[in-house]
Amino acid sequence: MDNVFDVKGFEQYAHDRLPENIAAFFSRGAGDEITLRENTSAFDSIKLLPRVLKNVEERSLSTTILGQAINFPLLIAPMAFQQLAHPEGEVATSKAAQDHNVIMVVSTCSNCSLEEIKANTNTPPWFQLYIYKDREITKNLVRLAEASDYKGIVLTVDAPLYGKRIKELHHPLTLPPNFEVKNLKNAGLNLKDTPSTKLAGYLASLLDPGITWQDIAWLRSITPLPIILKGILNPKDIQIAIDNHIDAIIISNHGGRQLDTALSSIEALKFASSVIDGKIEIILDGGIRKGIDILKALALGAKAVMAGRPILWGLAAGGEEGVKRVLTILKTELDMAMALCGYTSINEINEEVLCFSKK
Ligand SMILES: Cc1cc2nc3c(=O)[nH]c(=O)nc-3n(C[C@H](O)[C@H](O)[C@H](O)COP(=O)(O)O)c2cc1C
Repeated sequence: MDNVFDVKGFEQYAHDRLPENIAAFFSRGAGDEITLRENTSAFDSIKLLPRVLKNVEERSLSTTILGQAINFPLLIAPMAFQQLAHPEGEVATSKAAQDHNVIMVVSTCSNCSLEEIKANTNTPPWFQLYIYKDREITKNLVRLAEASDYKGIVLTVDAPLYGKRIKELHHPLTLPPNFEVKNLKNAGLNLKDTPSTKLAGYLASLLDPGITWQDIAWLRSITPLPIILKGILNPKDIQIAIDNHIDAIIISNHGGRQLDTALSSIEALKFASSVIDGKIEIILDGGIRKGIDILKALALGAKAVMAGRPILWGLAAGGEEGVKRVLTILKTELDMAMALCGYTSINEINEEVLCFSKK
């Protein structure tokens, strides 16, 4: 890993070592992968107009998200089945998150249990939830997160069905024997009789495609934890979330894995800026590959970003150390981008540095 200097390098390094079906599961997208590609290319097409002579000798990247202090404005996106990348799975990721003091959002479908993951970090994680047809299972998952002192419930709302990912169809995921999804087991779901080759599809079939805003109200009624909605793009939905006092929103298209030709995340943030107008904390995910991408998202009004695949590539390349390296790369690149744009702290970053207007 010593000769890997950017996230792109980690992608290559991981792909050189992963079986084809796992690489497809991690890295490919839905349909023709137009959204997947545009998530990154849309960042590149935003050009910067840096300021100079601003004394950038001393800089700080620390910030807060929903009141929680973090060392730099990045969270680790929820991603299922991390033992496919490394035997230590989510525990390795959480140790790296702790090292950098950034929040890890733990997937419902993590291999390691919420308790095991929390035991390895002092930076309180958040829990990503899906609403299952069986509301008791859903409720039990929330209770498990509360019992292990998770600080937020990230409800994913853009996956009523599993997206059509052609590469995955060509190279289906075969899960190793004894592969566990501990949270679901601990929440009362019996997966013993499900062959591991069918597990991923079976888990997707348990999700409730019938959920509406009333189910958000139900979730609000069963937990005092902050609720963060993940997977919103349309300004109309953002407005409803604001009206319903949702704690924060993650602007996301699920990393281009669900609806192909959905707007790229950064374009969606731009598109929704007048509705957001500082009324709700915004996190953006999808296509974060460089520190400059983080700066651009912040300039457009995001409070923080989440990184998905880069973390998995780091995990596959070198376990905990690999994730630490990816986080270090993104952090040092952000620091340099800030300095070169004339900023010394996160809350100074604003749209003035972008060479287009928000409209
Ligand atoms: C392999 C993989 C598994 C994922 N699993 C979940 C999941 O369990 N729950 C969820 O809400 N999002 C899941 N996501 C989506 C990510 O949370 C995130 O939205 C996306 O990866 C961000 O885009 P990026 O990979 O370009 O950073 C997954 C993404 C990947 C790549």
